[in-house]
Amino acid sequence: MKTIIKNGTVVTASDIYQADVVIEDEKIVAIGSTDKREGENVIDASGKLIFPGAIDVHTHLDMPFGGTVTADDFTTGTIAAAAGGTTTIIDYALQTPGHSLAEALQNWHEKADGKCAVDYGFHVAVTDLNDAVMAEIPELIGRGYPSYKVFMAYKGVFQVDDSTLLTVLRQAGAAGGLVLVHAENGDIIDLLTREMLARGETTPLHHALSRPPQAEEEAVNRYITLAALSGSPAYIVHLSDATALGRLAEARLQGLPIYAETCPQYLFLDIERYNEPGFNGAKYVMSPPLREPGNEEYLWNGLDSGNLQVVASDHCSFNMKGQKELGRDDFSKIPNGAPGVETRVQLLFAGGVMENRISVNKFVDLVSTAPAKLFGLYPRKGALAIGSDADLVVFDPDADFTISAEKQFQNVDYNPYEGFKGKGVPLKVFSRGKLIFDDGRYTGSKGHGCFLPRKPFSAL
Ligand code: URP
Ligand code: ZN
Ligand code: ZN
Repeated sequence: MKTIIKNGTVVTASDIYQADVVIEDEKIVAIGSTDKREGENVIDASGKLIFPGAIDVHTHLDMPFGGTVTADDFTTGTIAAAAGGTTTIIDYALQTPGHSLAEALQNWHEKADGKCAVDYGFHVAVTDLNDAVMAEIPELIGRGYPSYKVFMAYKGVFQVDDSTLLTVLRQAGAAGGLVLVHAENGDIIDLLTREMLARGETTPLHHALSRPPQAEEEAVNRYITLAALSGSPAYIVHLSDATALGRLAEARLQGLPIYAETCPQYLFLDIERYNEPGFNGAKYVMSPPLREPGNEEYLWNGLDSGNLQVVASDHCSFNMKGQKELGRDDFSKIPNGAPGVETRVQLLFAGGVMENRISVNKFVDLVSTAPAKLFGLYPRKGALAIGSDADLVVFDPDADFTISAEKQFQNVDYNPYEGFKGKGVPLKVFSRGKLIFDDGRYTGSKGHGCFLPRKPFSAL
């Protein structure tokens, strides 16, 4: 059966125009002016925006971390994604040292397959490089896993050394892969953490102080140097710091294919949050940490100017009760991460488009089109075009929202943006032609979301 979304304003990364959008089965089959025919389902989208389903390329669902497991699994996390207008996620499959990348992927497929409300793919995090793992990388790129992750932080857990960074960059780059990095200097952080704890400095604020901007700046600079040496493209996840952004901008001016994302938490929250009463600062314990007030304006500028190409959530939810409180007496034991898959799109629209910091086309690019292009999904995803998957958001730009944990779909006992108000609400969300979210209600089904093998990297 055909569905016609009539009279809406289509917004893509480059255009904005009035049109009807026709969906048949899983695909967009027509865009233009249409008349209703017998048996067709018509949705009136007058006064609403229609844009391609958003893509969140940085989530952690059902992930063991910091002595516990994230509060959202692939069922709750992808329903929350749908509620927020996100129709594709890319999560991280983590290699266990001593085991293969294929085992990591098998493990993450078991967590996700048959459980997702939206489509999904995986990046593969390399934590233990050896010859067998090296051989796996080109093979896995051919099987639809073109993105690899390396960590310069989390010493003793995920952190790898410079020769591993350079080797993975070379190996993946030569085979059409893109290597993503968590860029913070783990050795600096480890030393500062031990010194602080020895002095009895244990609060959530000390988490931020143990991870100063210089730790990020040094790592971003080093990673860019290694990427340049390798001749491969590179991508920096959750970039948070203005000076690190300056280094990125300089590298891009030199023509280096370095890309980066930032996240809403670095655009909307700042270091003052760690001073909330009691242990409430733990809500914001994430890495990199929240930065000084004023830093966020540089990031907005980076989004607008194109030096930052993607806004992702880094959704990594832990309950305050029973999880964050593991670190009540020691900030280094607070599991790192915060929820955000549900709020990313609305926050960026309200704080970006409505506050005139970015255009509505840039908004679509940041949350959907650029991630699709960088991560091998375009034009199946990230496009509102004939033949693309019918992943669509019917969005009311005039509707008010107030964020609250009480009414969220994320399976976690707080929301870092509690009380935030703004305009812009996803009313209807389609995933491959199926209406999965409708006016505040989840209408999809478990297992609708399918695994997306992705194409090798191609430059933006
Ligand atoms: O604090 C964070 N960001 N937790 C998730 C893991 C990571 O570093 O991305
Ligand atoms: Zn990270
Ligand atoms: Zn992350």
